[in-house]
Amino acid sequence: MKVLVATEKPFAAVAVDGIRQVIEEAGYELELLEKYTDRADLLAAVADADALIIRSDKVDAEVLDAAKQLKIVVRAGAGYDNVDLAAATAHDVCVENTPGQNSNAVAELVFGMTVMAVRNMYNGTSGTELKDKRLGIHAFGQVGRNVARIAKGFGMEVSALDPYCPDQVMTEAGVTPVHDLKSLYADNDVVSLHIPATAETKGSVGYDLVTLMPKGGVLVNTARKEVIDEPGLIEALRERKDLKYVADVRPDAAEEMEKEFAGRVFFTPKKMGAQTAEANINAGIAAARQVVAFLRDGIDRFRVNK
Ligand code: 3PG
Repeated sequence: MKVLVATEKPFAAVAVDGIRQVIEEAGYELELLEKYTDRADLLAAVADADALIIRSDKVDAEVLDAAKQLKIVVRAGAGYDNVDLAAATAHDVCVENTPGQNSNAVAELVFGMTVMAVRNMYNGTSGTELKDKRLGIHAFGQVGRNVARIAKGFGMEVSALDPYCPDQVMTEAGVTPVHDLKSLYADNDVVSLHIPATAETKGSVGYDLVTLMPKGGVLVNTARKEVIDEPGLIEALRERKDLKYVADVRPDAAEEMEKEFAGRVFFTPKKMGAQTAEANINAGIAAARQVVAFLRDGIDRFRVNK
């Protein structure tokens, strides 16, 4: 059996060593396709793969058509909007993610970027502190929960909105549940986005919500660029010169925004949230173990397609 690890943005070498060990100990063969720039390379490599481990790599019907022996795709990470689930189901391929494995890394980056924003991108002028400021967490999944934990250390007042999460989970974490989306934006100095990119959430954060934010508000996006209504956000930043936007997901209009809103926006050049050795090891090895559990024992605990 062949397990292909195809990562346009590679894991740390130490994580690849760990993945190799899990795969080879199970008696399977590991093939690595890293930093590929040509999709044809992925289509060729996947042809005789029984399992595929990916990150944000796109797996659509074309890839699935080319992968005649494929039984399972594990997205080493949380968001699986890069995988065509319906096509995978139609090809009888199981799709899994590795929830929680890279969430601390993303949560730490939220604070890296938030501090940078409130200190005026380190331009030498007086900024503000996070202590006693209000943080609103938009979606209280694994990343949101880690963000809440770290925010407590900063001395922030934390609230969260998540229709899929019971209030009790929030209150036990010392977080105030919010049920009204507008209030989440209107009542917080910093709002951190952790919603997945789904049909329901795409383009859902734009002018109407962002302009509700109080003076000096900071919107932090370590989720997906697709959840933002970019023209609406641009309009909001144009109208409200006190607002800032920092994102781990470069917007389509990044260059124009960097020019027009210089000093008020920051974008990582490549998605960096999960780019730590620890997150790579956790997510990569979890993915390898899930592949082995599926191929050897038929266990599909983390399946996300029907
Ligand atoms: C995730 O959904 O797990 C994160 O966005 C990380 O994505 P990456 O593996 O492409 O860095």
